[in-house]
Amino acid sequence: MRLAVLGGGGFRVPLVHRALLDDAGGPSSSPDGVHHTVHRTELVLYDTDRTRLDAIGAVLAHQREQHAGPAPEVRTTTDLDEALRGADFVFSAIRVGGLAGRVRDERVPLAEGVLGQETVGAGGVLYGLRTLPVAVRIAERVAALAPDAWVINFTNPAGMVTEAMGRVFRERGLPDRVIGICDSPVGLCRRAAHALGVDPERAGFDYVGLNHLGWLRRLVVDGVDRLPELLADTAALESFEEGRLFGADWLRALGALPNEYLHYYYFNREALASVRSAAATRGEFLLDQQSRFYERARPDDPAQAHREWERVRREREETYMAESREASGGWERAGCDLEGGGYDRVALALMRAISRGERTTLILNVPGRGAVPGLDDDAVVEVPCLVDATGAHPLATGPVAADQLGLMLTLKAVERSAIEAARDGSRRAALRALALHPLVDSVPVAERILDAAGGF
Ligand code: G6P
Ligand code: MN
Repeated sequence: MRLAVLGGGGFRVPLVHRALLDDAGGPSSSPDGVHHTVHRTELVLYDTDRTRLDAIGAVLAHQREQHAGPAPEVRTTTDLDEALRGADFVFSAIRVGGLAGRVRDERVPLAEGVLGQETVGAGGVLYGLRTLPVAVRIAERVAALAPDAWVINFTNPAGMVTEAMGRVFRERGLPDRVIGICDSPVGLCRRAAHALGVDPERAGFDYVGLNHLGWLRRLVVDGVDRLPELLADTAALESFEEGRLFGADWLRALGALPNEYLHYYYFNREALASVRSAAATRGEFLLDQQSRFYERARPDDPAQAHREWERVRREREETYMAESREASGGWERAGCDLEGGGYDRVALALMRAISRGERTTLILNVPGRGAVPGLDDDAVVEVPCLVDATGAHPLATGPVAADQLGLMLTLKAVERSAIEAARDGSRRAALRALALHPLVDSVPVAERILDAAGGF
């Protein structure tokens, strides 16, 4: 089985590699009946930057040295087509424009007094406008060279990127095998279950939304919804991340647990004030931190590269969403949230379910196909999906509350305007994407942001 990782020199690639190593990898069968184990898995890392590939390659080498069992073969390349040929799975985790681009996506809106963030608000739209043409071009190459491959998209903004890539396949009459993933819903579900003292494996999660815009509405154990019990218990509620971010009172008023990214909506003033008063934006912090990692990591010294990577990874986790935590009283992340094992585990579980036919339920980004009443069939939504050898099938969610559906519809219109803008080079569509965003409060602001960002 061949796995191509686009953005193979990216900082989170060792997490995926670690998950593959940890995978039991016993005899298994894929849909075509071919048996394979993890040591027969080949990992092809593709990146536009050789230095990054070498640094991450060294981290992987150390992980393999430390690992007792079989390990997948690893190859690196800077040629996209070469990476795609023969791939069974394509992981796309690219950052178009690098972290310098992320800094601009934050600073340009902040200069206009509105939130600048990687995936939410004007910053998310700007990031999407830059990323979509590249993501679409990748989808075209996959359609041409590996039309049977499954594309697992981590690239942010994951909702709109997944929808735009999937369209490429459908327009060619090919099955849409693009699945978007994010670790924030599974993190929320896990934390909520633990707060109730429930094993997450034993619980059913009624989660609905778009990427970075969703709600956990019920948490079912043995046929009983335990969310009301959690909502009634202030101490349990405020013992974990989302409870602390949003506060027990607001969660009770809402009657659901929102994804952490909804903090930027429900507490916009506070989040914005906190972001503006910070010395550096998240992008600026990471640009500095990550450039130093790639400079320091020695390709010829795997142990050193791995040590540096682990230190930097930990620091990155510890500082995640610092401004939002500051805005909600200032608190530190729980130790169990710092270990990683979020998105890489979702990716691995997804790959196992598809390649080995191990049925499971995962919260994924796929076209809703009627699962969410009020959204059209092709709209990519983030909902629990039944995954098996034939792919990810969204489970019906039942009616969505008016406030939630309203936000989802608005953001879907924003995403689609961005997709149209990127496809046609249309300034009008780009302006619509920015100005319709609920966190951009005026059309002239949207116009100035568009001008300052350039490209349209
Ligand atoms: C979470 C989100 C990802 C996002 C990441 C940002 O994992 O689900 O979509 O990319 O956080 O983390 P960062 O360290 O880059 O701020
Ligand atoms: Mn995410």
